[in-house]
Amino acid sequence: MRLVNRIAALVVLLSAVSAGSSDSNSILIKGGTVVAFNQETQGLRVIRGGSVLVENDRITGVFDGAPSRVPKGAEIFDAKGKIITPGFIDTHRHGWQTVFKTIGSNTTLIEFFFRYSSLVAPFFWNASDVYDSQLAGLYEALNAGVTTSLDHATHTWSKDAADAGFQASIDSGARVLWAFSFANITDVVTVEQQYPIFRALAKKPGLKNSPTTLAIAYDAWGPNPNVAEIDKIMALAREVNVSAITTHSLQGPWGSDNSPEDIHALNYLNISIPIVFSHASFLSATGRDLLRSTNQYISITPESEMHYGQTHPVSSLIQDQASLGVDTHMTFSTDILTQARIWLQQTRYERYLDVLEQTKLPKTNPMSAEQAFLLATRSGALALRRPDLGAIFTGAKADLLVWDGDSPPLLGWDDPVAAVILHASVGDIEAVIVDGKWAKKGGKLISKGYPEARKKFLSTAKRLQEVWRGLPLPELPPVWNGHPVVDPERVDVKRGEGDGYGSVYI
Ligand SMILES: *[C@@H]1O[C@H](CO)[C@@H](O)[C@H](O)[C@H]1NC(C)=O
Ligand SMILES: *[C@@H]1O[C@H](CO)[C@@H](O)[C@H](O)[C@H]1NC(C)=O
Ligand SMILES: *[C@@H]1O[C@H](CO)[C@@H](O)[C@H](O)[C@H]1NC(C)=O
Ligand SMILES: *[C@@H]1O[C@H](CO)[C@@H](O)[C@H](O)[C@H]1NC(C)=O
Ligand SMILES: *[C@@H]1O[C@H](CO)[C@@H](O)[C@H](O)[C@H]1NC(C)=O
Ligand SMILES: [Zn+2]
Repeated sequence: MRLVNRIAALVVLLSAVSAGSSDSNSILIKGGTVVAFNQETQGLRVIRGGSVLVENDRITGVFDGAPSRVPKGAEIFDAKGKIITPGFIDTHRHGWQTVFKTIGSNTTLIEFFFRYSSLVAPFFWNASDVYDSQLAGLYEALNAGVTTSLDHATHTWSKDAADAGFQASIDSGARVLWAFSFANITDVVTVEQQYPIFRALAKKPGLKNSPTTLAIAYDAWGPNPNVAEIDKIMALAREVNVSAITTHSLQGPWGSDNSPEDIHALNYLNISIPIVFSHASFLSATGRDLLRSTNQYISITPESEMHYGQTHPVSSLIQDQASLGVDTHMTFSTDILTQARIWLQQTRYERYLDVLEQTKLPKTNPMSAEQAFLLATRSGALALRRPDLGAIFTGAKADLLVWDGDSPPLLGWDDPVAAVILHASVGDIEAVIVDGKWAKKGGKLISKGYPEARKKFLSTAKRLQEVWRGLPLPELPPVWNGHPVVDPERVDVKRGEGDGYGSVYI
């Protein structure tokens, strides 16, 4: 070992020792069923009557029985009858949109662009609106057990708006990879104007002591990329060492490629920075091979892809390079548990259909609850190249959930993984720890900022919802990306005349 390395190792050792002897910030979660992680098999390891020791931001012990070491002054949390899991990881989200909650219940993707996106919002929102909406959205996610999210932040239309959403992410206490979106917005902002804004955010003092990090979002990788612009953005990515890059990748009739092939052609796919392709609805076989050979991931957003019709015809073929995301939580569930459950049953449906279409019957079940659990936790960590996340083992970051095993849906559980993935609701999440700190306890968000954030958010939401009520529905273009825009066949839930579509209640 070279001398500098030896000194570095000593410093690490000393800081570990001093952290260990500190009385504050240690929590022992004692006597519960722990869904831990076996690093050898990269699979789950269920420990009944187990304990988890948290010191500062880390898990420092996972015990099969009584803990062999309890730091002086540690908070003891009795987990008898409870299930302990890692926090969920959401690899695709637009956190700033919380204000629109419930007002877009039947929106479509094309309507969304013209009504709820950053093409419209900058004309009505100011920076404090962004702050309030982003913060409330993150509290909502924390309450639902989402401890890490990759936020595709499209609210970067001004210095103040960008700063507000980033600051809200830091203030939430959640682990947010906040991905600054480089995009031109007509009459609002250009990519050229965004460079200095991004640079300034990278120097934000609050970043040092926060689990939140800066990332980049970019949606113009192909088919006719502006290579000079991309080179500049990638140089910035390296200059500030962003934690991830993300892109909306649809392809098929939706166009706007952003495929692995597009990025590889520019020589930016096989790099040390993780790149997450959200949706990747029409990923090609070549694209799948590229993801495997470069170890990059997609983010399947099951509910979004059903709601908006991005669909996911081939996503089940690339689940070994896939994670789960929520997308626009203004229109549906905010939580990864729901996504994992929908995805599990959707995949089962597809694989069963293959068998039934050959007029045969399935003998076994094609996807397990364990696989859905891993997609919702560990796979998200791997997508973000954060091996210290999404799992319970000694040395991992302390992002943990405690589930109430006695709630009506869980009462009588035996398999803790099946209990969570197939029976629980987010209401059964009794406690949430992020980076070693309680965010939720006793079934309630306990973050200091929550009461004030809640109040401010409500008034902002009601004001902006009123504005949106007054906006006429947009006239949609007859053709989008070269394809006619048409009405799908409506379902009919009422006997007799009409289709019973009804109304929306805003
Ligand atoms: C944003 O608008 C609201 C409502 O008009 C106002 O109360 C608030 O002070 C504004 N914030 C900023 C930063 O301009
Ligand atoms: C932004 O606008 C510039 C100038 O028109 C263009 O060259 C560039 O490709 C655009 N970038 C994006 C991401 O739309
Ligand atoms: C860049 O960030 C990663 C974590 O995202 C870290 O592991 C790495 O050491 C950093 N590199 C530099 C040069 O700071
Ligand atoms: C990516 O780089 C690794 C080595 O750094 C190499 O083994 C692999 O073939 C590369 N993949 C592609 C698609 O270029
Ligand atoms: C949503 O429903 C309302 C009627 O309640 C209708 O006017 C509107 O066109 C619908 N929007 C879409 C995108 O289908
Ligand atoms: Zn999205």
